[in-house]
Amino acid sequence: MRVRARLVVFFVIAACGSVSAQDFSADPERMEERIHALGEFGKNAAGGVSRLAFSDADLAGREYIKELMQQAGLQVRVDTAGNIIGRREGSESGLAPIMFGSHIDSVPGGGNYDGDVGVIGAIEVAQLLHERGIVTKHPIEIVSFTDEEGGLTGSRGMIGKLGEGTLAVMSHSGMTIREGIARVGGDPDRLELAVRKPGDIAAFIELHIEQGAILHEAGVNIGVVEGIVGIRWWDVSVAGFANHAGTTPMDRRWDALVSAAELTLAINRVASELPGRQVATVGKIEAFPGAPNVIPGEVIMSLEIRDLEAEKMQHVFDLIQAEAGRIAGERSTPIQFTEIDVASPPAPTDVQMRRVIAAAAQDLGMSYEMMPSGAGHDAQDLASIAPAGMIFVPSLDGISHSPKEYTSAIDMANGATVLLKTVLAIDNGALE
Ligand code: GLV
Ligand code: MN
Ligand code: MN
Repeated sequence: MRVRARLVVFFVIAACGSVSAQDFSADPERMEERIHALGEFGKNAAGGVSRLAFSDADLAGREYIKELMQQAGLQVRVDTAGNIIGRREGSESGLAPIMFGSHIDSVPGGGNYDGDVGVIGAIEVAQLLHERGIVTKHPIEIVSFTDEEGGLTGSRGMIGKLGEGTLAVMSHSGMTIREGIARVGGDPDRLELAVRKPGDIAAFIELHIEQGAILHEAGVNIGVVEGIVGIRWWDVSVAGFANHAGTTPMDRRWDALVSAAELTLAINRVASELPGRQVATVGKIEAFPGAPNVIPGEVIMSLEIRDLEAEKMQHVFDLIQAEAGRIAGERSTPIQFTEIDVASPPAPTDVQMRRVIAAAAQDLGMSYEMMPSGAGHDAQDLASIAPAGMIFVPSLDGISHSPKEYTSAIDMANGATVLLKTVLAIDNGALE
């Protein structure tokens, strides 16, 4: 049986210099209503969203988020990397802000919860503080990062890792990242203005759906993330020879798609046979010229590798390259790997932060579990400049990057209440 958190929680906070007992908890109905409202932007027929970063749907969703931030009493701006930032000043001068948030862009054919819960949850926290007139000592900054699904673009911009190579990458929307950033109100020629250095942010916390089935299956309320996987992407090209599909005998073909198919199987085998949790995926494949009566002369496909250790990722890639060399030789179809400049390093979360999040869940009567994140998150970039932590809430049946993605209103609110308590604990020196 599932352990449910108490909906009303009492804890003590320091507000405007005085100490008072308050009841605080996130409002499940308000959060769910906002998730549904956000889901209207880019809604797809299957009940999820295709809100690709930089698309019209993304622009409309971003306007909705800016409105919610304003209603929560935040000063809203867009930084030069295209991130939406809502800020509220603190009561003590000279303190760095506590930042929390996530993203609202989706993958093609995505769901309504990935990223969205973290942004709506962060706004919920700001709104609760606003409604009760609580002023934290630190400034708070709520962030909705731009283009998370295209390679953590906004958070890379914030840590100063968005170079010309990345700006030239074609995003899911068909625009380059440079064009997309300009379209959402950023300025790709002045990215240095978006950069935060170590010390500029007191702490970063991201609330997110788990996107796996561990919490749901165990009936646990909260996941405390210990580390986030690193991610590397490559374009893989296989060169064959385009020829007539009717007149070319089977033993006289250099079929790029047959080699690509064999390579796809090899990639799956390499990642499956090694001990550990590494994963490798071919998620996109295109044959050229792409006609039923032409033997494919060229294939372009993607390769993605993830693991919690950078060395393991490299090892998997080395084994895949060796397999590619073998296949290319046997079938006389050269194979080339070009790494795309969107890599994110594996990132352990801050150890103190894990304790603060776990203590918040425990004090609120919620069950929790320590766990790794197999999905990439903006928090892994922020971890390089600030103590960073992540709060996971259950995903029904572990489904994500799908219209079937679902997290209940109570679970979303539980996560936001843990986020609120974590922010207040940090404001009161829990990381010092
Ligand atoms: C981000 O959603 C990822 O691809 O893990
Ligand atoms: Mn995602
Ligand atoms: Mn996400």
